[in-house]
Amino acid sequence: MNMPYAQRRQALARQLGEGGIAIIPTAAEQPRNRDSAFLFRHDSYFYYLTGFTEPHALLVLTGEGTATLFCAPKDLEREIWDGYRLGPEAAPAALGVDAAYSFAELDARLPRLLENRSQVWYPFATHPGLAARVEGWLNQVRARVRYGALCPARQSDLCTLLDDMRLVKDAHEQAIMRRAAQISAGAHVRAMQCSARRLRAGQEVREYHLDAELLHEFRLHGSQYPAYGSIVAAGANACVLHYRADAAPVRDGELVLIDAGCELDGYASDITRTFPANGRFTGPQRALYDLVLASQDAAVTATRPGARFTDPHDATVAVLAQGLLDLGLLDRNKAGTVQDVIESRAYFQFYMHRTGHWIGMDVHDCGSYVEPSEVGQTSERKDPLSGETITNRPSRILRPGMALTIEPGLYVRPAEGVPEAFHNIGIRIEDDAFVTEDGCELITRGVPVRADEIEALMRD
Ligand code: GLY
Ligand code: MN
Ligand code: MN
Repeated sequence: MNMPYAQRRQALARQLGEGGIAIIPTAAEQPRNRDSAFLFRHDSYFYYLTGFTEPHALLVLTGEGTATLFCAPKDLEREIWDGYRLGPEAAPAALGVDAAYSFAELDARLPRLLENRSQVWYPFATHPGLAARVEGWLNQVRARVRYGALCPARQSDLCTLLDDMRLVKDAHEQAIMRRAAQISAGAHVRAMQCSARRLRAGQEVREYHLDAELLHEFRLHGSQYPAYGSIVAAGANACVLHYRADAAPVRDGELVLIDAGCELDGYASDITRTFPANGRFTGPQRALYDLVLASQDAAVTATRPGARFTDPHDATVAVLAQGLLDLGLLDRNKAGTVQDVIESRAYFQFYMHRTGHWIGMDVHDCGSYVEPSEVGQTSERKDPLSGETITNRPSRILRPGMALTIEPGLYVRPAEGVPEAFHNIGIRIEDDAFVTEDGCELITRGVPVRADEIEALMRD
């Protein structure tokens, strides 16, 4: 497949304006403790424009489309310890940039690159210390104005341009995301089957056993690492939204909630499945599961071009509100009608998060959730739970190529008036979707989602 990076750089360059110049660093290495660093993960914006994954790198792009890369210089001794470096000599041919220099030359060269430019773009509030560094370079340009140099008069947030570009996934991105989704789906299948098999064999199952299955499958298929900290939550742990895979026993008769996805070649996947540890749902588990699934079906139907980002959430809430009344989790005498439950947000006791987020290089991907052309159209409402006044702006209109998750859930903590049969059940079902020309495509259905299909899979 053709590498898309040069094309993206050109598309960005066209938006920088006459005399514009952009500075995009990769991520900094993060110390873990003493001599150990966290595994390096490149910056997503930088990677989007270069495909380059080494640390100590920075791209400069002009409005005319000239790309200059700063990267780690070749250094045999360092390469013996830390591994291969591309180096500035090989970078133009390998990455299609116009020029490349050692990262050590950054402070010497940047003022010259910024000289006589009118506007400098860089990502605001994403790289600690970057704004101060840009200021230092601009200071040096200013020192030369006596000799006729012009100093950029405007600084702008590059995220506003790149966020919008990244929101719609090109063919290259969609292909990688599909593969990531497939690997993650396989990992969920593997964890489900492991749970049932071990319990049937009378073996202990702990959350980390299932986490190990996920990791095995991710790495087996070439994923570099999980896209986020995997949640493997047995029983009541599923009601802790940001629970991490730990050591709790997975008990026969309980549900397990797994929220895990791999990152493949810079792209995330994000899947949640909730399944019975032993492969068979109990009655109350199944009733809640089918309700969450029905709410997801409604959200999937609402995910189509022209719809608002909030439409799937609203569709979910309508189904959940009805179900909570039907199952007696909300008392009709107190909570009233479905409309009352929606307006009072009484469902919030059991469903306290949104139904999705953008997904791409970052699991919670960049991109405004407000429709840019309607950003000035504000309205106010009073939140019935907090009493706060909230300013609303029209939500983003979905377009083909956007990628988002669809992830309704229900989390039932023991409370007065809540039927005991449902206590401590936590369920979430999450799939990743591309908005298509006429609806959406779920790319994570390589792992079953219907209760009967999950039971069948876990029997085999
Ligand atoms: N796994 C993070 C999320 O579902 O948003
Ligand atoms: Mn998610
Ligand atoms: Mn998730």
